[in-house]
Amino acid sequence: MFSKEDNEILCRVGPGTPMGKTFRSMWMPFMLPEELPAPDCPPVRVRLLGEDLVAFRDSEGRIGLLDRYCPHRRVDLFFGRNEECGLRCVYHGWKFDVTGKIVDMPAEPENTQMKEDTRIKSYPVIEWGGVIWAYMGDQATMPAKPPEMEWGLVPAEARFITKRLQRTNYAQGVEGGIDSSHVGILHSHLDPEHPELPFRQRQISPNLAIPYLASDTAPRFFIRPTNYGMAIGARRNASDEEYYWRVTQYLAPFYTMIAPLREGRAFMGHAWTPIDDHNCWVFTMTWNSDRPLDADELDHGAVHSEVTDDGTYRPLLSSENDYGLDRVRQKLYSSTGIEGIGMQDTAIQESMGAIVDRSVENLGSGDAAIAGFRRSILKLAKERESSARLEIADNPQWFRVRSTAAILPHGTDFLEGTAAYTKVD
Ligand code: FES
Ligand SMILES: [Fe+2]
Repeated sequence: MFSKEDNEILCRVGPGTPMGKTFRSMWMPFMLPEELPAPDCPPVRVRLLGEDLVAFRDSEGRIGLLDRYCPHRRVDLFFGRNEECGLRCVYHGWKFDVTGKIVDMPAEPENTQMKEDTRIKSYPVIEWGGVIWAYMGDQATMPAKPPEMEWGLVPAEARFITKRLQRTNYAQGVEGGIDSSHVGILHSHLDPEHPELPFRQRQISPNLAIPYLASDTAPRFFIRPTNYGMAIGARRNASDEEYYWRVTQYLAPFYTMIAPLREGRAFMGHAWTPIDDHNCWVFTMTWNSDRPLDADELDHGAVHSEVTDDGTYRPLLSSENDYGLDRVRQKLYSSTGIEGIGMQDTAIQESMGAIVDRSVENLGSGDAAIAGFRRSILKLAKERESSARLEIADNPQWFRVRSTAAILPHGTDFLEGTAAYTKVD
């Protein structure tokens, strides 16, 4: 059983909380470059780990991430002017550069000491791997690099990254991302020709080349803690001598990677970045390690959801319109009646409430990865409580792994059997 106390530790991400301190020890993706497309473009409101901030790109292309509220009399800097290498508060004109230094105070005497003594809170930002990253921890322990995720290492034309708002705590997203046992059920298609047959006889595998997903809906799970987080092996029967293995990766603190259905196809992963305790940014990554993505790979199964174009990244479908739920479609064609894998995941994760009460769940053997994730991240938070530095933050190369699917003979260790595919050179 997961206690209410542990659930609090798992889910609270604000300043001073154990998990908040853990996340502040690492670089985190929080924006797409398209949000700050050019020097001196409009500033953008940002909320991250429960802190209200503003991001802007200065005249030289550098990105600043500052406290949303002016240190003078707390005006919202979203209304500021982004000009000549700084963001200027429009109330009395205080102007800040990307490092948080005050470079102008027009309503104060020319040589005021206040200009040197006052600063605005600012966080370092870098652009790498198709996303913008922030580091919100102590300067003294700032990791040299973000984690070397494969989607960040491949050329831009070999990756596709989208962002959407999800109205849940980040942990619900991570748990959905590593929950291999829902794939053959939540995302299953149904044979429309025989609506009279029972549900389980009507399920069609998402890929006909991989019939085991639908034919064996109760895989056995094997959890392997690793230096980056955890590898999860889901084992299904393939033949009398072989198993079909799907290896899902959990990379601390909030990254997941799902196995491709077939070899040589694109990989898929997510980052579940906490906006605050009740909301997260879902970054969805599709990438190919060998070549540019083809059109089919760009949106296989609608994993990338459509969002509004007003900068809020709200999905077009949401709880307000029941995620487009169509009961006729549900009767005939799919498990949910909701279109697209991304929206099916969001709908069920949001339906649990913003912070699910894990103390009243009933976990089964299919939830081994979920329990493994909770153990893994609580251990990380403990490490952070006892030391100012996290080992994982200083070892970005540990993240050079990927997911895979393979058919292996009985008796083969799944990590050894797939080692050649899961390591990124
Ligand atoms: S409130 Fe910002 S300059 Fe006065
Ligand atoms: Fe899913």
